[in-house]
Amino acid sequence: MAKLIGSKKIRTAVFISGTGSNLKNLIQFSFLNDSPIKISLIVSNNKRAKGLDFADRYKIKKKIYDFNTKSSEVLILKQLEIDKISLICLAGFMRILSPNFIKRFKGIILNIHPSLLPKYKGLNTHKRVIQNNEKYSGCTVHYVNSRLDSGKIILQTKVKISKKETFSSLKKKVLKQEHLLYRKAIRKVFFSL
Ligand code: GRF
Repeated sequence: MAKLIGSKKIRTAVFISGTGSNLKNLIQFSFLNDSPIKISLIVSNNKRAKGLDFADRYKIKKKIYDFNTKSSEVLILKQLEIDKISLICLAGFMRILSPNFIKRFKGIILNIHPSLLPKYKGLNTHKRVIQNNEKYSGCTVHYVNSRLDSGKIILQTKVKISKKETFSSLKKKVLKQEHLLYRKAIRKVFFSL
């Protein structure tokens, strides 16, 4: 379990690539008095990510990096140090962090994935789940290591797939659970609840 020092909130960076509903959820979570985190930085590899609007709306610092080169990695690590970030929450972030980045970042990195890992790692989870006629799907929050969607699992939520389930209904159903699960998993990491 990670320790929460005194009453200070954990300075957190959220990495996004798209819509940012998980980002919005984490920002709103961070505003609660008993939340262990404060969102100090929003990072995106995509300058057109819709989620970046939340940085403006909530007046949170945002940075855009291409994540393609070693030098961009060095810049990101530097920025994380400047902002004293000790937790990174990946939230719909579509890049794979390099082993070097993971090794050099001294804090904790979490990810949320829209499947019941270890099943359906990678992209297009909902589509594959429906094609395979699965009865259940869900979401997972896990620690990030250098293998894709393979770090130690913190928490999972299971959802039942109905007979009429479509890609978009499943996505919506799982996303709703993701928002609850990310909060719960962060509390578990920092408060061991
Ligand atoms: C979520 O389903 C997340 O688990 C996956 O991509 C989606 C991102 O949604 N990796 P959002 O950008 O947080 O709305």
